[in-house]
Amino acid sequence: MEKIVKFFQFLCLVLMLFPFHSSSLPLCTDKRAPRSPKGHLTFCPYNGKICCRESDDIELQKRFEGMNISDSACASAVKSILCATCDPFSAKLFDVDSEPRSVPVLCNSTSATPRSSLSSPTDNSFCSTVWESCQDVSILNSPFAPTLQSRAQLQQNTTSSKLTDLWQSKSVFCNAFGGAIDEKNSFCFNGRPVSLNTTDTLPPPRGMCLEKVDNGSYLNMVAHPDGSNRAFFSNQAGKIWLANIPDQDSGEVLELDESSPFVDLTDQVHLDTSYGMMGMAFHPNFATNGRFFASFNCDKEKSPGCGGRCGCNSEVGCDPSRLGSLEAGEHCKYHIVVAEYSANGTASSPSMAEKGNPQEVRRIFTLGLPFTANHGGQILFGPDDGYLYIMTGDGGGKGDPYNFAQKKKSLLGKIMRVDVNNIPSEEEIVKLELWGNYSIPRDNPYSEDKEMEPAIWAYGLKNPWRCSFDSERPSYFLCADVGQDTYEEVDIISKGGNYGWRVYEGPDPFQPQQTPGGNTSADSIDPIFPVAGYSHSNISKLGSAAISGGYFYRAQTDPCMYGSYLYGDLYASHIWAASETPQNSGNFTTRDISFSCARDSPINCDSVPNSNLPALSYIFSFGQDNRKDVYILTQSGVYRVVRPSRCNYACSKEVVPSINTPTAAHSHGSFLNDPNSVVMFFVSAVLLFLEFFM
Ligand SMILES: *[C@@H]1O[C@H](CO)[C@@H](O)[C@H](O)[C@H]1NC(C)=O
Ligand SMILES: *[C@@H]1O[C@H](CO)[C@@H](O)[C@H](O)[C@H]1NC(C)=O
Ligand SMILES: *[C@@H]1O[C@H](CO)[C@@H](O)[C@H](O)[C@H]1NC(C)=O
Ligand SMILES: *[C@@H]1O[C@H](CO)[C@@H](O)[C@H](O)[C@H]1NC(C)=O
Ligand SMILES: *[C@@H]1O[C@H](CO)[C@@H](O)[C@H](O)[C@H]1NC(C)=O
Ligand SMILES: *[C@@H]1O[C@H](CO)[C@@H](O)[C@H](O)[C@H]1NC(C)=O
Ligand SMILES: *[C@@H]1O[C@H](CO)[C@@H](O)[C@H](O)[C@H]1NC(C)=O
Ligand SMILES: *[C@@H]1O[C@H](CO)[C@@H](O)[C@H](O)[C@H]1NC(C)=O
Ligand SMILES: *[C@@H]1O[C@H](CO)[C@@H](O)[C@H](O)[C@H]1NC(C)=O
Ligand SMILES: *[C@@H]1O[C@H](CO)[C@@H](O)[C@H](O)[C@H]1NC(C)=O
Repeated sequence: MEKIVKFFQFLCLVLMLFPFHSSSLPLCTDKRAPRSPKGHLTFCPYNGKICCRESDDIELQKRFEGMNISDSACASAVKSILCATCDPFSAKLFDVDSEPRSVPVLCNSTSATPRSSLSSPTDNSFCSTVWESCQDVSILNSPFAPTLQSRAQLQQNTTSSKLTDLWQSKSVFCNAFGGAIDEKNSFCFNGRPVSLNTTDTLPPPRGMCLEKVDNGSYLNMVAHPDGSNRAFFSNQAGKIWLANIPDQDSGEVLELDESSPFVDLTDQVHLDTSYGMMGMAFHPNFATNGRFFASFNCDKEKSPGCGGRCGCNSEVGCDPSRLGSLEAGEHCKYHIVVAEYSANGTASSPSMAEKGNPQEVRRIFTLGLPFTANHGGQILFGPDDGYLYIMTGDGGGKGDPYNFAQKKKSLLGKIMRVDVNNIPSEEEIVKLELWGNYSIPRDNPYSEDKEMEPAIWAYGLKNPWRCSFDSERPSYFLCADVGQDTYEEVDIISKGGNYGWRVYEGPDPFQPQQTPGGNTSADSIDPIFPVAGYSHSNISKLGSAAISGGYFYRAQTDPCMYGSYLYGDLYASHIWAASETPQNSGNFTTRDISFSCARDSPINCDSVPNSNLPALSYIFSFGQDNRKDVYILTQSGVYRVVRPSRCNYACSKEVVPSINTPTAAHSHGSFLNDPNSVVMFFVSAVLLFLEFFM
């Protein structure tokens, strides 16, 4: 009974929090991010960041004029349809994930609402409008031909056609070109540029209430792919543990037996200040195939299986024998490795497995490192495409002296996207010059471009440290990228995007000190600037800063946090919440949010001396469990975001459990909570990790 009540409460909350709105990032039909054209468009009524250039605008005008449409209402409808390719949401309007279309999905109201005219702000039955204004109007090379083949034929014959020549009736026409306007996640074209609901914004959260659930220091947390309330935790040395996650309000801690890891890869991992196990990923079908992957550094002089091609090579204009003169780089002694392992056969099914096999199944990727830092190393499966994303840093050296991040043939400073479900033969790997056992997804941006490494998904990054997909909107792929001297940034990663490093650091031009690898001119690139971030001067007088990217908060636990993207700084122990205004605009407003420790935290949060704030120490990373609860992985332990009222934060939407939950085992009444304070403290100890990001 209690469960039913709880479920009903949950359902109401879900319905309250998820209004049926369309959600999508602005993206063009080629899945790339919209850009600002150099000048103004003269034909299409679009400005700002859009999906066409001036040359496209001129083409569209020519095409339109070539249609020779005599009727003005029809002409205006057709013009708006042609120009829809310029819309920043054209990927959605043309529904590019389905079949190719010549015409965007035309709004087709299925209800009996009266048809509005073309000039009305929202024409919910634009499809009818098009039919009615164009049915008897001749159009040369009509885009409304039934099939791609017939469209091509029309163009060859240069015959003009009316809609009634091509289609039996309005309803047949609208069945082909129309789309419902009321379905969740569907966009349709109403004759005008897509406009977002500007009142649809979420207020920023007041503060974040945390409880400490483990004393361990981890770099990674990955929810179990079977959906159970378990997660894997890994440390820098190379151990992975499988932990049971306690319910919210249970007063329990993580159930994790430190002496019994899921797998211990420490003998394969090279551990040092800036080396170790940086990432892990579990195949989306792990529960049945038992495949999992680790990303770590190795030393080729110590591990026989470690050798691979050096990231500094003649193809990228880099001579490994000269590296030493620039920095104490141990030219390609150390490598980034992504290796596959298996949990098959250790239990009745991989989902039940409590142990993985430390024997490497397959080497997915190996890359020799030119310098000692900036390796990135996170790995992650795309929730929609099932491909493995591999994040690499620029390889280090202050200011990326060899300009690796911009080099098209370098895999440093990149976000790679590879297919680990289709492993090519050894011969093919050699022929295609791949860097390991993976294949290239056909829709990778440079899969056919001889100038570019085909594994590249996005480039121009310095040291991507923690990327995540929004669990509700997989087109939102956010990465935090560690800066050099001045700015820490958050980027929305899109196909083929160039994120600017080292032409730019954040939004500002960057002046490299050493440039043996040459420069890239600002005019030659079209960088995508960060959507959020912070200046070093804002957080620390010591000048040390390194961003740790987090998650879009999607749990029900703190409804006031819902929809904010959370991230932090490794050194300064600051946490920010970026809220998007309006929703789906890609326009973020960032706020430094205070946090404190729940009075009833199961483990004492060890407050900062002379304050009442939890001593998070270094923020290594964030985590998210299968209930979408968010965790902060720090040097001092694992903290979970809990109900705001467990600190003194007010959130009117919070649902306090009606059933009396067991009180926390260890209560710490001494914890005063001050929601308005901001943590600012300096640690003099030199952390094992200190150089990690520099
Ligand atoms: C365009 O249409 C007009 C009539 O509206 C016609 O006289 C003219 O020949 C057409 N032009 C072409 C190129 O078909
Ligand atoms: C276009 O021309 C081809 C032959 O070249 C013919 O088979 C086809 O029927 C024509 N299409 C139209 C729509 O006139
Ligand atoms: C469009 O609306 C018409 C009625 O106006 C309906 O018959 C048709 O099924 C709708 N098509 C789509 C794709 O929604
Ligand atoms: C815009 O969003 C607000 C808040 O979610 C909602 O109340 C309103 O109905 C929306 N307006 C439109 C035109 O969708
Ligand atoms: C965590 O550490 C604190 C003090 O350092 C100790 O009191 C507590 O028992 C530890 N808790 C767990 C779950 O290991
Ligand atoms: C694990 O077992 C499943 C089912 O028997 C099989 O399909 C899969 O290939 C195995 N994977 C590995 C890595 O051995
Ligand atoms: C592919 O995997 C096998 C098995 O681990 C390994 O021997 C081989 O070197 C790998 N190939 C590449 C190019 O990494
Ligand atoms: C690269 O640009 C910097 C100034 O930003 C300049 O000092 C340097 O000489 C340039 N290097 C090359 C190889 O052109
Ligand atoms: C950083 O500081 C500047 C000036 O002190 C201020 O204008 C800006 O809002 C701050 N930014 C953040 C993200 O706190
Ligand atoms: C971005 O958000 C800010 C702050 O809410 C707002 O003032 C601004 O108008 C928004 N910009 C766009 C392009 O929506």
